[in-house]
Amino acid sequence: MHTSELPSLRIRADVTCEFLSTARRLRTVVAIIQENTKTNYITHSEVIEHRAEHTRRWAHFRRSLLAEDLKHAIGRRRRGTGGVIVATQGRRMLGVAVLRFDLRHRYGVVEDIVVDARARGRGIGTRLMDAAVAEMRTAGLKNVILESGIRNESAHAFFRREGFKDAAIMFLRRLQG
Ligand SMILES: CC(C)(COP(=O)(O)OP(=O)(O)OC[C@H]1O[C@@H](n2cnc3c(N)ncnc32)[C@H](O)[C@@H]1OP(=O)(O)O)[C@@H](O)C(=O)NCCC(=O)NCCS
Repeated sequence: MHTSELPSLRIRADVTCEFLSTARRLRTVVAIIQENTKTNYITHSEVIEHRAEHTRRWAHFRRSLLAEDLKHAIGRRRRGTGGVIVATQGRRMLGVAVLRFDLRHRYGVVEDIVVDARARGRGIGTRLMDAAVAEMRTAGLKNVILESGIRNESAHAFFRREGFKDAAIMFLRRLQG
């Protein structure tokens, strides 16, 4: 049976969320993010970190930059400054959340949260967010922030439901072309 046909309760019960401790599954994490995000995912961070050229076009070398960034993000777990949580069902990875903690100023950032498009709407995003927030509370953080592309309405609905309030808008003005 295809995963997307499984009853949602079964999926929720079977899914485990855990931090990666090594880069062994790095390629799978890169693939989950790369293959399950559209240009409506692009925000300020993707542009200033060169993963996107602007808010409607990914950079050609996005995959290698993602791999590099994720390697660093996995390493944050050892330093207590974040990490990468993966949601898996059996051997299959279904979702990922990338976290960064600023311990000095006591805020956390959800840099990425992505669920395989075939497994959405079944509570996996909620499970990833719960795990992220629990870890941030344990680390003594006071706030959690994240960015979301302005055209990514379904993600906005998800974040509002998770208790996030709208806090800023990014503006972009094209100067050429
Ligand atoms: C946003 C995202 C991570 C949510 O993951 P998910 O596993 O589908 O979320 P859940 O199943 O836990 O949804 C929880 C709730 O959010 C809401 N929600 C989720 N997707 C929604 C959608 N497309 N439209 C409206 N509401 C939605 C639902 O109300 C759901 O509540 P319910 O359990 O009462 O039905 C996922 O849609 C995704 O990977 N999107 C693409 C990547 C992305 O845009 N990430 C966020 C930007 S950083």
